[in-house]
Amino acid sequence: MAGYENGAEQPSCPELELPELLLTDAIRELHSEIENQWDSLRLSAFQTAAGRALWKHVVNDPLADILAGETYLRRLHEKMKNDHMSNAREVSGVILAVRTLWFDSKIEAGIASFRNGETQVVLLGAGMDARAYRLSCLKDSEVFEVDFNDVLQVKTTLIEEAWEHKYSQLIVKSVTRVAADIREEDWLEKLKQSGYKPERNTVWVLEGILYYLSPSHAMKVLNVIADICDHTNTVLLADFMNKSSTMLSNSSFQFYSDWPDHLLPSLGFSNVKLSQIGDPDANFGLINDDPLNLFNKLRSLPRTLQINPEDGTPCRRLYLVQASSSPIQVLL
Ligand SMILES: C[S@@+](CC[C@H](N)C(=O)[O-])C[C@H]1O[C@@H](n2cnc3c(N)ncnc32)[C@H](O)[C@@H]1O
Repeated sequence: MAGYENGAEQPSCPELELPELLLTDAIRELHSEIENQWDSLRLSAFQTAAGRALWKHVVNDPLADILAGETYLRRLHEKMKNDHMSNAREVSGVILAVRTLWFDSKIEAGIASFRNGETQVVLLGAGMDARAYRLSCLKDSEVFEVDFNDVLQVKTTLIEEAWEHKYSQLIVKSVTRVAADIREEDWLEKLKQSGYKPERNTVWVLEGILYYLSPSHAMKVLNVIADICDHTNTVLLADFMNKSSTMLSNSSFQFYSDWPDHLLPSLGFSNVKLSQIGDPDANFGLINDDPLNLFNKLRSLPRTLQINPEDGTPCRRLYLVQASSSPIQVLL
């Protein structure tokens, strides 16, 4: 059977080419210090950046290599090479590529839906997200990146280095980094103190973050956002794992929802739409229609199933969910 089955025209895995800047002593030392000292929660930011870097034929992210660092790039590249050699149907990183493109397209649609007024985009658990430097649809938006202080400091240092070497330029009206732990009560206050305005049109981006939180913290964050929605036009974009996805051994995933499309309306969001990897709006030519492709198999099974009855494998799903809300209209 022809090898590469997830749809992308890639007969073989391209060699890994590292940008010169990544090989300088300063950047190497910074990355190696982080890798030795940080916990897996913070380090997850480098894994997702590596995914964007190695799927650069579909994801435009010129900063991703620098932000990810050599170790994570080599690690993912090795996996992708093995997948190519074994003619795997799903190549490592494809979920990240689809997820990134889905969020990109929904952020653009969300901003367009506001029609007028100034817009804000808030990235919770922003990690090494470089949308402020790569998405032209954000050119008139104020972007807020919320993450732990040490993560944001390293990101700033890496971006300044990239800036000096002309790897990047800011696209957005402004980008503000907000050091906050979203498990704490004060994160919204910190966001406001940094210039976020609750009454302004806002796109909330919760990409790769909710399942790292405990159920009570995740619900608290969603409720905080839902409460603000009463005051303004809001678009919420988030990915949710189902229960089986959080049951991997050694998993640090906590929060899951098998029915985020029921959960969000119960919190006050409307126009909720759920997509799975491979659906028409979550495909991007990366998942072909081979019924044996893992994502197609999952899409064909009822969502109530946690175990595939045909082969006994867990149905691990990632749901991509959009919702919106408008200010409450008081009818007199
Ligand atoms: C998997 S990464 C995703 C980063 C980015 N959204 C992306 O998709 O590339 C998760 C990020 O969430 C951040 N994070 C996890 N728990 C957090 C918390 N309680 N408060 C703030 N940030 C958190 C981590 O530091 C990390 O940068």
